[in-house]
Amino acid sequence: MNRHIFLIGFMGAGKSTVAALLAERLSMPLVDVDAVVESTQGKTVAQIFTEQGESAFRDAERAALLGLEGLPPSVVACGGGIVTRDENRADLRRLGTVVYLQVSAAEAVARVGDASTRPLLSGPSGTLAATSLLQAREALYRAAADLVVDTEGCDAKEVADRVLAAIRQEI
Ligand code: S3P
Repeated sequence: MNRHIFLIGFMGAGKSTVAALLAERLSMPLVDVDAVVESTQGKTVAQIFTEQGESAFRDAERAALLGLEGLPPSVVACGGGIVTRDENRADLRRLGTVVYLQVSAAEAVARVGDASTRPLLSGPSGTLAATSLLQAREALYRAAADLVVDTEGCDAKEVADRVLAAIRQEI
């Protein structure tokens, strides 16, 4: 693979777990955009949201994305909201193959479990928040994606198999 492979999709879609499996199977480096933000900012994602607000987090997320330019081709797990900035969608496509891991709001909430590390789902009704946020974002995920992989009812290994098959067909 000579370009990055970006995994995008809603919180709970399995991006980080599947990215780790893919990186191992493809012998490619693994990058987690949230982890890059946390290490450059010296704060957790939840702390950045609380102390500086979502927009500051989005600025740091964008900087992390741009920092991938020039790095060796990697499997990149993106935060669920990376597609909300138009320029990020363009840069994702410019820098790699973009795979949308699709999941329903109900399954996403079930997979996330304790939402305390996900500021956008940590209110009293996580499922309601997830449903409206996912509805608002669905078109953005699709617009950014080269490939769409359905993850509903699948474990991470099955999803990784599906992603590999889709990528091999594409290239
Ligand atoms: C977010 C998703 C999170 C994290 C932040 C915002 C979002 O990442 O970037 O809490 O807006 O969907 P995960 O998708 O890895 O949970």
